[in-house]
Amino acid sequence: MDRERCCVRLSVQPSRGLVDEKFVVLVEGALPGVQLTVHAAHQSEDGHSWEAFAHYNANATGAVNVAKDPSLGGTYSGVEPMGLLWSLRPVPGSIPGLRVRKTDVQTPMVVTISVYQGQLTEGFVDEVPLASVVVERWYMAPGVRRIPITEGGLTATLFLPPGPGPFPGLLDLWGGSGGLLEYRAALLASHGVASLALDYLTPRITVETGKMVDSQYIETAYRVLQQHPQILSCRIAMLGLCFGAGVVFKMAAYSQVIKPRCAVCLSGTHVQPVNGFMEELIDVLRKQENKCRFSEENEVIWRDLVLPIPTDPKLKVDVGRIRCPLLLVVGEDDQSWPAHESAMDMKEMMERAGNSHLLTILSYPNTGHLIEPPYTPHTRASRFRGVKGSQTLMALWGGEMVAHSRAQEDAWRKILVFLRENLYGGSNPGPASLSNL
Ligand SMILES: *[C@@H]1O[C@H](CO)[C@@H](O)[C@H](O)[C@H]1NC(C)=O
Repeated sequence: MDRERCCVRLSVQPSRGLVDEKFVVLVEGALPGVQLTVHAAHQSEDGHSWEAFAHYNANATGAVNVAKDPSLGGTYSGVEPMGLLWSLRPVPGSIPGLRVRKTDVQTPMVVTISVYQGQLTEGFVDEVPLASVVVERWYMAPGVRRIPITEGGLTATLFLPPGPGPFPGLLDLWGGSGGLLEYRAALLASHGVASLALDYLTPRITVETGKMVDSQYIETAYRVLQQHPQILSCRIAMLGLCFGAGVVFKMAAYSQVIKPRCAVCLSGTHVQPVNGFMEELIDVLRKQENKCRFSEENEVIWRDLVLPIPTDPKLKVDVGRIRCPLLLVVGEDDQSWPAHESAMDMKEMMERAGNSHLLTILSYPNTGHLIEPPYTPHTRASRFRGVKGSQTLMALWGGEMVAHSRAQEDAWRKILVFLRENLYGGSNPGPASLSNL
């Protein structure tokens, strides 16, 4: 016991990094063969405690390398270098339906990694760890600039990569809960793409007037990127998840202003009224409310709202009109949106229209709706309040933790490659550095 306490060393490399960066957790100086528990603790910004842990046996030299050695049990098992982060879950006794989302990207996600003697499964707060390391996980790399944007009535934040630029640009759109969510745009800027996070469901202008915005609002945001002196005006991408993906489909197909260089759509559908914008889409969904299903735990399942995929061309975006490379990311267990059925229909439409060479589909089994940057905890269901909903529901997003976490890792890497190829490829990439991506 005393020998353990004095001699066990714990290191995490890097202890300060980007959220999508891998780390190596190393325990040394333990007794050979001894049982140890490696534990991760995180306090979310909304004040809830999350944890993950795994059991290891020290090897003959008294070491555990989490990147190479198998977990024998805990919140994950087997060799999982990043399991301590993606298997984070609310501590026992927490209220149900929590989700970790970074709102202040100017501070890191802080995780305390500790090592304990023996095989612990609970009561970590009452035990004294053998060693601990505080780890910082950042969405904003050093030198990334965060610029709030209000011009043109926008509620948006621009993130510029380090250096003078000019940089390729990206318009980043989130889904149905609204709000100005900055973390993905901050991370994309950390990888060299100037990214504008845009609130289009609950912007100030909507809060003040009670009116939802139309497609001109999205075009205004696109112009802000285009006219920025540090952004390459013909190298701008769009990226959206859920409703945001729907906006990307619509703009890429019909807008006279927005001509994206490429588009990434996660967990989305092209099914939406061709005439109109968010107001009309939400009206259509309202009318289908009787198609909602509920899980055994009484979580709402929305995926049937737009099924079966309509054949009426007025009810879905004509993706045959899209003229830029399009990457679809699909979770095959998406319970909120029929992303898989939609992708299949879009593929068919594009084949018929002769533009399917522009389409890439990444489809992941046992993966849910909330496909986030990697190494963040998987949320199968969480409390949700829609933009026009009066009550809070428990929404089922779907996905199975291990498969979903692997999908997040694979999809994110491929999204970055896709953006690099399409935003930097071709002639005159400008002085922006490829090594940033
Ligand atoms: C024990 O693990 C450490 C860290 O991975 C490694 O450097 C060392 O060689 C291992 N010792 C044996 C005997 O396998």
